[in-house]
Amino acid sequence: MDKFVIRGGLPLNGQVEISGSKNGSLPILFGSLLAPGPLLLEGVPTGLRDINTTLEILRQFGAEVEKRDHQVAIEVPTQGPVKAPYDLVKKMRASISSFGPLLARRGEAVVSLPGGCNIGDRPIDLHIQGMEALGAKIRHENGYIIANGPLKGGSVYLSGPMGPTVLGTQNVMMAAAGADGVSVIEGAACEPEVVSTADFLRTLGVKIEGDGSPTIRIEGVGQDGFASLGGVTFTIPPDRIETGTYILAGAAAGGRVEVRNCRPKDNLALLSILKNIGVPLEIGEDSVTVTGVDQVTPCDVATLAYPGFPTDLQGPLMALLCKTDGVSLITEKIFPDRFMHLSELRRFGAKVRKEGSTGIIEGGAPLHGAEVMASDLRASACLVIAGLMASGTTQVRRIYHLQRGYESMEVKLRGLGADVERVEDRQIESETVQG
Ligand code: EPZ
Repeated sequence: MDKFVIRGGLPLNGQVEISGSKNGSLPILFGSLLAPGPLLLEGVPTGLRDINTTLEILRQFGAEVEKRDHQVAIEVPTQGPVKAPYDLVKKMRASISSFGPLLARRGEAVVSLPGGCNIGDRPIDLHIQGMEALGAKIRHENGYIIANGPLKGGSVYLSGPMGPTVLGTQNVMMAAAGADGVSVIEGAACEPEVVSTADFLRTLGVKIEGDGSPTIRIEGVGQDGFASLGGVTFTIPPDRIETGTYILAGAAAGGRVEVRNCRPKDNLALLSILKNIGVPLEIGEDSVTVTGVDQVTPCDVATLAYPGFPTDLQGPLMALLCKTDGVSLITEKIFPDRFMHLSELRRFGAKVRKEGSTGIIEGGAPLHGAEVMASDLRASACLVIAGLMASGTTQVRRIYHLQRGYESMEVKLRGLGADVERVEDRQIESETVQG
């Protein structure tokens, strides 16, 4: 197991290139199950663990997968296994998005219920309701959902108590693409990754309207509708959460960072918050330049479905808010328990606490390097940013979480002048003992 060793307090300066979107790639990779291919996906962040887990799952479904540098070529036979086993689904919840494409193309899907997750409760009831609305017959057996087609167009409502579901919308869109007839999804998620999935389906020849709004209309091509489809190329857009993370890191560490190959319009909520708290930004067509600040003004924000402020940037923003001259509030309205980073932030000396689903940050306390434990992907990014801000040395353990979603983070940060090393945990432990 590796960890990051960060010698903090150095400003970040220079340019950083954003990779293709993780959360954009995952459903589209599973969407490749809809057609025989060959299909070529470009701009895939192939260095990420979640991408490699996905390719492993696709192979289990009988796909031939070839990974090159930021490209994946896929061919999928019509017949083949339809089971997404627990061992893989528990590793990566996004594998639930194999459900729709498998059901549409192979008429059957056997998908493990994902089980526990360290950012809180994450049911999949809306995915199931959506498939049922398209005519799927579903039963539960030994922790698995067994679904059978054929699918036909239907009317689907996909919002729950916490708002719309992102993967649920993508999953049902992909199922509807291979269903017979027209489907309409109401209460759909509007995230840019949903629009990318719709763009991908359009590349496969599916007629879709309304993606990016709560009502999406899909003209399904039927179970054999993609039977002769091949030679398709699709490019994954840049990662808006990686973009936001580097913008926040630049603001927090000081210096001047140009975040390149991004889509600023996908991050309007974050950019608006940063402007309001006094972070200087220059916004270009496909870049954002951020100038670091010694202090930001406090704020009161909530995570919300897109175009609201994303839950995936809640932790990274919390690190920056330790630089305020007052009290800030961040309320989690998507995953109310997603605060595992909070007690780790305290180890840096931050004055943070939680009341209900609100994180309370009393800014102004200086951060000192600490030994901290990453608990999930975005919590890890929060701790790395805190480590860059802190004086002295920080060790962020269990950084395998980071490798799920940030390509070569230590390399990118070093390119900006940070002193970050990725080392094997045990080696450093024995050095510490010797010291
Ligand atoms: C996606 O997860 C992302 N994952 C998450 O990013 C992100 O945090 C989340 O959307 C919210 O933006 C991928 O795209 C792979 P949801 P998803 O279904 O789709 C409730 C990261 O760090 N809900 O939109 O699984 C749910 O509990 C990851 O990259 C139901 O009630 O999230 C939550 O409160 C973590 N029933 C809310 O909806 C359902 O059937 C939104 O979850 C499904 C969800």
